Amino acid sequence: MTIIKGTGSILPELVVTNEQFNDHVFYDKSGTQLPKQGAEVTAKLESITGIRERRYVPFDQDSRPLMTKAAELAIENAGVNPNDLDGIIVAHNAGNMLIDENYFHTVPNMAALLKNTLGITNYECFAYDILFACPGWLQASIQAHQAINNGDAENILVVGIEVASRLLDPHDLDSMILADGCGAAVLSKTSENKGVLACATFSHAQSDVSNIYLGKSNNPEQDGNCWFKMNGKEVYRYATTWVPKVIQKVLDKANLNVTDIDMFLFHQANDKLIHAIAKNLAELYQTDLANFDGKLPMTIQFLGNTSVATIPTMLDMILRGKLEGYEIHEGQKVVMASVGAGMHCNAIVYQF
Ligand SMILES: CC(C)(COP(=O)(O)OP(=O)(O)OC[C@H]1O[C@@H](n2cnc3c(N)ncnc32)[C@H](O)[C@@H]1OP(=O)(O)O)[C@@H](O)C(=O)NCCC(=O)NCCS
Repeated sequence: MTIIKGTGSILPELVVTNEQFNDHVFYDKSGTQLPKQGAEVTAKLESITGIRERRYVPFDQDSRPLMTKAAELAIENAGVNPNDLDGIIVAHNAGNMLIDENYFHTVPNMAALLKNTLGITNYECFAYDILFACPGWLQASIQAHQAINNGDAENILVVGIEVASRLLDPHDLDSMILADGCGAAVLSKTSENKGVLACATFSHAQSDVSNIYLGKSNNPEQDGNCWFKMNGKEVYRYATTWVPKVIQKVLDKANLNVTDIDMFLFHQANDKLIHAIAKNLAELYQTDLANFDGKLPMTIQFLGNTSVATIPTMLDMILRGKLEGYEIHEGQKVVMASVGAGMHCNAIVYQF
């Protein structure tokens, strides 16, 4: 079986509070300035999403220091010699964010950059990236599990790095939701009867393909065509419909009921969305929503939506006792589930 042998995460240095958006001028997608601005808007953001602050990588850094530190912490925590890694998979959305540039670079790929900064010389350790939006780290973990399961690898480092801050349109309300972060884990082969019990992935990519994309600013005067954009209501509809179903799929594969699960690590998109997913999951299983009490850890309030870094960061915080009120004990079963641009959603059920 495959276990998560060690985890690591790192919170970017810059803390950006909601108040810091009070002087932004917001427009809608048609380029019309919104009637409400300032504190009224940020208060609304907090009431819908729960977000009070988020963190950004300083503009005088590229993505490498964050990615390297999180990976080093995970490797140290796993007690694995870096040169004994059989593979590195880095999930991200836009490659390396260069210093003082709102632009991304994907050549060489992020896993190659990470292998280089970690000083790993073993050329049999593969290093590739996956582009799978917010569910990228979970999907990379599924790939690592599959490689371990079929005997091709024993230890794989899986990293999720997000530096969304450089792609956020200052004139779009939804830009206040996204943030930066990095989480990592070493997945390893075990002979013990625990670890990954089942995985499931759905990729729709039909009309939903245009729910999240890179495009022009809402402000017609603002240059560039690589700003992060989303149709929030469509994303909400997709996530609340399909995340419960992909969880049902993974639980069916593991022959478990939702009531067997001790904790749900959901992608931290926003407070309202997370609770709606739990409500729909409860309805799917005709169980009381109260069954989820104390089982839904959240980081959204102080980290925002860190996309592909969300789940590994939250997992690391819990395992290191840094998320108040949440502990995972030996033998407990946890569901991790994510959703994002594509649209895709996925889930893993894991026994500690
Ligand atoms: C974006 C989202 C939070 C908006 O929530 P909603 O309740 O549907 O909001 P509505 O579009 O109906 O707008 C309601 C009000 O909130 C405001 N609002 C919407 N999004 C906002 C935002 N990001 N920040 C501040 N205010 C916002 C609207 O301007 C509107 O204000 P009004 O009542 O004064 O007219 C919601 O659609 C959502 O959760 N989408 C998923 C987004 C997401 O997490 N994407 C990333 C997934 S990986």
